[in-house]
Amino acid sequence: MDKYIVTGGKRLAGQVDIHGSKNAVLPILAAAVLVDGQSVIRNCPDISDTRCSIAILRHLGCAVDYDGKTLVVDASTASGVALPEEAVSKMRSSIIFAGALLGRFGEVDSAFPGGCLLGGRPINLHLEGFRKMGVVFEESSDRIDGKVSKLRGTQIDLTFPSVGATQNLMLAAVLAEGTTVITGVAKEPEVVDLQNFLRASGADVSGAGSSMIVVNGVKRLNSAEYTIMPDRIVAGTYLVAGAITGGHIRLNNVNRRDIYPATYALSKMGVDLWSEGDGLVLKANGRLEAIKNLITRPHPGFPTDLQAQFSALLCLAKGRSVVEENLFEARHAHLEELTKMGANIKIEDGSRFTIDGVSGLQGTDVVAKDLRGGAALVLAGLTADGVTTVHNACYVKRGYVDIAGDLQSLGADIRLVRS
Ligand code: UD1
Repeated sequence: MDKYIVTGGKRLAGQVDIHGSKNAVLPILAAAVLVDGQSVIRNCPDISDTRCSIAILRHLGCAVDYDGKTLVVDASTASGVALPEEAVSKMRSSIIFAGALLGRFGEVDSAFPGGCLLGGRPINLHLEGFRKMGVVFEESSDRIDGKVSKLRGTQIDLTFPSVGATQNLMLAAVLAEGTTVITGVAKEPEVVDLQNFLRASGADVSGAGSSMIVVNGVKRLNSAEYTIMPDRIVAGTYLVAGAITGGHIRLNNVNRRDIYPATYALSKMGVDLWSEGDGLVLKANGRLEAIKNLITRPHPGFPTDLQAQFSALLCLAKGRSVVEENLFEARHAHLEELTKMGANIKIEDGSRFTIDGVSGLQGTDVVAKDLRGGAALVLAGLTADGVTTVHNACYVKRGYVDIAGDLQSLGADIRLVRS
């Protein structure tokens, strides 16, 4: 198993580019299936989820060319409706292809995506929405086999602003007959990015970023070129890297509005942040203040995907912080590992925990159990006394093209050891 070896104590300085967004690229690659032609998608991060999506696209009959940045998909030859089982088991978000397949072919055939370490991960909202659009699913607890002769526009009211359900239903609605109105939708920037790609391809979609999306079905989508948005979670992770080491760093290619919840929290802790051209500069001064309540919520609230990284930072802040995780029932595996490094954390229940800041952490062997939790351990290692070995680097690599290289370029002592 690959691992990161981090020797703490280096103050980060310099600049780093933020790569394309993992969570934006997946729905946009699924959207490419709806296009009866070629889509040129730039700034696609070279991570395992992108590679897994390419495997799905090829399995469905699309021609795909990828040079590690720009991905060209020609879906005019697509004909498959079955998602490969291996892809669904490796990447539960591959369910995002269901909306596109129903839209293009009126059929989808997939294994049921299971839960993950963060909890159960149901997809009831996706399926209820598809049903309202006319899809009939065969009854089976472990498969999603759905058919419809032609999807029809309707009104769908989401009872929770699920990112995946919002995107899946947008994809299904693009080529449907008539108008689909989806209320209670997720407002995440990746939903807006999907809308922008769909519009560039000729879809009639509006409202992304607000709580209601309206899609007027069109007959076909055309070829387009599109650049994926910067990854706001990678940006937030590197801001914490700067803050946790008392550093002075600049991030290039960030959209400051998208990461406002993170920059707001950092400012409250006493970090200086300012914009410079398309970059964002961070300067940390001395020991940071605790945050009374850090509560994860759907966008524009504080993102659950930065909870672990900020928890690592709060371990070293002055005073007591209370963190509340509201999106996933079991997103706390990193806390036990941080405790091994000397953090003072008390879990009240699965979703609420108290962190009393300590003056330093000690390097030791820790285990990444999920993507963002693993990133949090790398961040803790940057400031810990001595050497921190983060096992299971494979989890972290799912979301960062080269976290070790990026942090090295900022002066960190970190290396990825492959085994
Ligand atoms: C996406 C992101 C993930 C992020 C999450 C929340 C991708 C590939 N992943 O995941 O990184 O952490 O948004 O910002 O974009 N839920 C239901 N029923 C449903 C769907 C969801 O109950 O049908 C629940 C989930 O169990 C979870 C919550 O809603 O507790 C949020 O899930 P959702 O917004 O759908 O997250 P994902 O799209 O899976």
